[in-house]
Amino acid sequence: MSRKYVIAGNWKMNKTSEEGADLVKEIVGAVGQQSDVEVVVCPPFTVLESVSRVIEGSNVKMGGQNMHPAVSGAYTGEISAEMLRNHFSSYVILGHSERRAYFAETDDFINQKVKVALENQLRPILCVGETLEEREAEKTLDVVKTQLVGGLAGVSAEQIGSVVIAYEPVWAIGTGKVATPEQAQEVHAFIRQSLSELYDKAVADKVRILYGGSMKPGNAAELLAQEDIDGGLIGGAALDSNSFIDLVKSAIAQD
Ligand code: PGA
Repeated sequence: MSRKYVIAGNWKMNKTSEEGADLVKEIVGAVGQQSDVEVVVCPPFTVLESVSRVIEGSNVKMGGQNMHPAVSGAYTGEISAEMLRNHFSSYVILGHSERRAYFAETDDFINQKVKVALENQLRPILCVGETLEEREAEKTLDVVKTQLVGGLAGVSAEQIGSVVIAYEPVWAIGTGKVATPEQAQEVHAFIRQSLSELYDKAVADKVRILYGGSMKPGNAAELLAQEDIDGGLIGGAALDSNSFIDLVKSAIAQD
């Protein structure tokens, strides 16, 4: 089964408009014309406009890091799916563990966002993953399944093809502690198996499942070589053009 790799950069709360444009110029220059790997950058909202100008005419795509499910209204500090589309976003990261932990996002709320994103032609990157405590209590697969089933409730077999799943063990995010390829593959295979139960095997075989959590050029090749790992959601290493470009090249080399 050939699935196109996705290398997505989650910039989190980093970069001004100018810094973001500079970073993306280098990415576009190095890997903006190839089409073997899908390259996505997810800058802060204030940087979407400057980045959108730089990626125009290239194959680099852009996404938001979050959105609110309502169309518009009294939601101070939030932005809608339409606003993201209006700024040329094609993806949106939803349910990131930092949103779950610091902003108390529930599976139900994340599910509302997933559905609204899909209705607005935005591809959700739905994040799931366990904490260290949950892993040590051998609850990893249960936690991931609950987040997956909750996040995808009401998403149809046609829509699931537009969804990207990111498995991000919370204990590996920003910590330098990466999951071993075997640990990651076990959960990725479990996610694909769960998708096959929720939909069917043919549908599950098409969904891209990314790994996230301290992925960097030194450890990417062996993670990306795993059967069910179809790319990466990159935090820290996405803030430096050289390491991000190396990660894209590492995915190209897997083809
Ligand atoms: P990290 O972050 O690569 O810095 O661990 C990944 C993420 O949070 O998406």
